[in-house]
This record gives sequence, C-alpha cells and structure tokens, in this order.
Amino acid sequence: MLPLRPVIFNPHIPEIEYIEQTLLPDTYEVRKAGTVQDLAEAIKRLGIRGAPALGCAGACGVALSALVSKAGSVPELLAAVRSDADLLRGTRPTAVNLFFGIDKVFNAILSASSIEDVRIRAVDAARDVLESDSRTCHAIGKTGLSVIPDGAKILTHCNAGALACAEWGTALGVIRSAHEADKKISVYACETRPLLQGARLTTWELLRDGIDVTLITDSMAAVLMRKGKIDLVIVGADRIVSDAVFNKIGTYMHAVCAKAHSIPFYIAAPLSTFDPDNCEEQVIVEERNPDEVRTVRHCRTGPFNVPVWNPAFDGTPVNLVTGIITEYGIFTLPRDLETIKQLKMGK
Ligand code: MRU
Repeated sequence: MLPLRPVIFNPHIPEIEYIEQTLLPDTYEVRKAGTVQDLAEAIKRLGIRGAPALGCAGACGVALSALVSKAGSVPELLAAVRSDADLLRGTRPTAVNLFFGIDKVFNAILSASSIEDVRIRAVDAARDVLESDSRTCHAIGKTGLSVIPDGAKILTHCNAGALACAEWGTALGVIRSAHEADKKISVYACETRPLLQGARLTTWELLRDGIDVTLITDSMAAVLMRKGKIDLVIVGADRIVSDAVFNKIGTYMHAVCAKAHSIPFYIAAPLSTFDPDNCEEQVIVEERNPDEVRTVRHCRTGPFNVPVWNPAFDGTPVNLVTGIITEYGIFTLPRDLETIKQLKMGK
C-alpha cells in the first residue's frame, strides 16, 4: 500500500497537491493549490488539517508565495511573501505547527542575496519541513512501541494519522509501528463530533492498513473503559503548553475518564507541537461555524436558529497525561519542561 501523503509540494509547476479531506471517506480526491489564497481556503475548510500537516502546508505555502510572486527586487519579494505568510497565519489559530512551518521557511529567506536565492532557500526549507516531519513521525512510532503491550486495546480520538502529518502519523504512527512490529493490537476510534475526523478519517486509514478498528460515538468511550475494554488511550496534539495539552474537542473528556479508571493516557506529538513558554490561558481556541453542530454531514439535526458553542479544541491539564511520546523519548510535564525548552532552543 502506497504511503498516504496529504501535502505534496511541486515547486517546478509551482503548486501544492493535497488530499481534500472533507470528501473522505466517500471520495478520494487530490486537488491542487496554485496560489496562497487557494491554500488558505483549503486550510480553513479543513481540506488540509491536523497539526503537523498544517505545518507542512504553511511551509510549502510560504515557498509557493516566493515562487509565484512577480516582485522585481528582494525587498519587494520579501514584503509579498510576508503578506502571504500573514494570510496563512490567519487561517487557524490553535495548532502551533502551522506557525512553526511558516516561520521555518520565512526565516530561511530573510538573508537571501537575490530573488533566485530567495526561491532556492524557500524551496529547500519547505522540503526540509516535509521530510523532517516524515522522519519524526517514524521516530515517534518507534518511541511509542514501549508503551504498547502485545494485544493492547487502544482508544483514540480525532485523526492523528498520516492524513494529519506529512505521512505515517503521530498517535496512529505509534499504532502503525506496533502493527508493523506484529503486536496484536485493536483500536477503538471515537467518531469525533462535530466534524467526524475519527469516523471519516481514522477508520478509513486503519482499514486501509488492515489494522483492527471499531468505530464508537464519543459518548461510548467511558463505559468501554469501565468494562475493562481499553488498555490505553493515545491521541495527538495541536499545541502543548507548560500546563496543558490542546487537542480536538473531547480529548479532555477522555482524559478525565481514563484517570477515573486508572487507564494510561498518552499524547503522541513532535517537538514542533510544543509551545513551552506559554500556558493554557494564553492559547486561542478556534471557534468554528455553529452550523457544524446544528448539522451532521450537511443534514440538519437541530433547529436552524438554536444557539451553539463550537470550540474546535480543548485543553487537558498535564496532570491527566501519563506521558508525551515524542521523537526524543517520552516526556511528562511539568517535570521535563526545561529539557523540552533546551531541545527547542537547539532546533
Ligand atoms: O481540526 P483538526 O482536524 O485540524 O484537528 C486535528 C486534531 O485535533 C489532531 O488530533 C491533532 O492535530 C494532532 S494531528 C497529528
């Protein structure tokens, strides 16, 4: 089975190819963004989604901007790219990887000496973000093997798979690595209302790989834990601050339930998802269109005028997290905060 790559950069055209994730699982469609505006729209509607994939898209978007701009001098080109980078930054506020990817490429071009040099540096930096995310996910998968017993029954929420990264995945990367290592695992995938990333994307990815998966609604997780049917929970993250882990709405509920049933609760995430100098209060949680809650897949389930609260993410206090599986090992917070800061400074 070919690896799933949700974001592909073709600098020679130039364009960004992406899997339109809103159409899955019914339709697998690869679309092309030839402008930063197209890319920003794809990110806003969750055509491209998942924290590391947003980092990859942000990086490629900045490089695309450098390639398509008609600017006649380096200062003009940098100004045009800065404005496109700001457009991308404004698409979604919570996943820190988006800003990481944008900054990686933008910082790489700041000291360029010519228009050609800007373009070469931008393309190299964007490719580097894609390739290093892919390596990182495989490293996270390897690290995570130590927490997956043979025969483990694993609960996951949302989609932290190949579709959410350059490939392989973070939480699903650990699951894929365990499957590859012949551990007889089975997965419960929570559907993840309102946009059903678990039902639509996680189950699709796992079935595609022949990994045992059962779909449940979000509200079924607690009783499964009570019945002893879950050995551990693994989810991804959008931003890890000093005192909390932000991930898809509903993650906190699973962490509380896991604690109540003494079930290990793991996060799998790359170093680029850490934002160790900030704390929970400082994070902007994206609030999305109320119709996402009043409907399911465009079918109305509540009155058209009922007031709605629709945060895309929640924060889980770090005391509910057993460990954070990264490419550098398994960390716990607040114990390893300084180590994480040091690692980030070295990057
Ligand atoms: O709104 P989404 O679909 O972008 O949210 C994605 C998640 O919350 C994922 O769990 C997170 O980004 C980790 S992806 C490796």
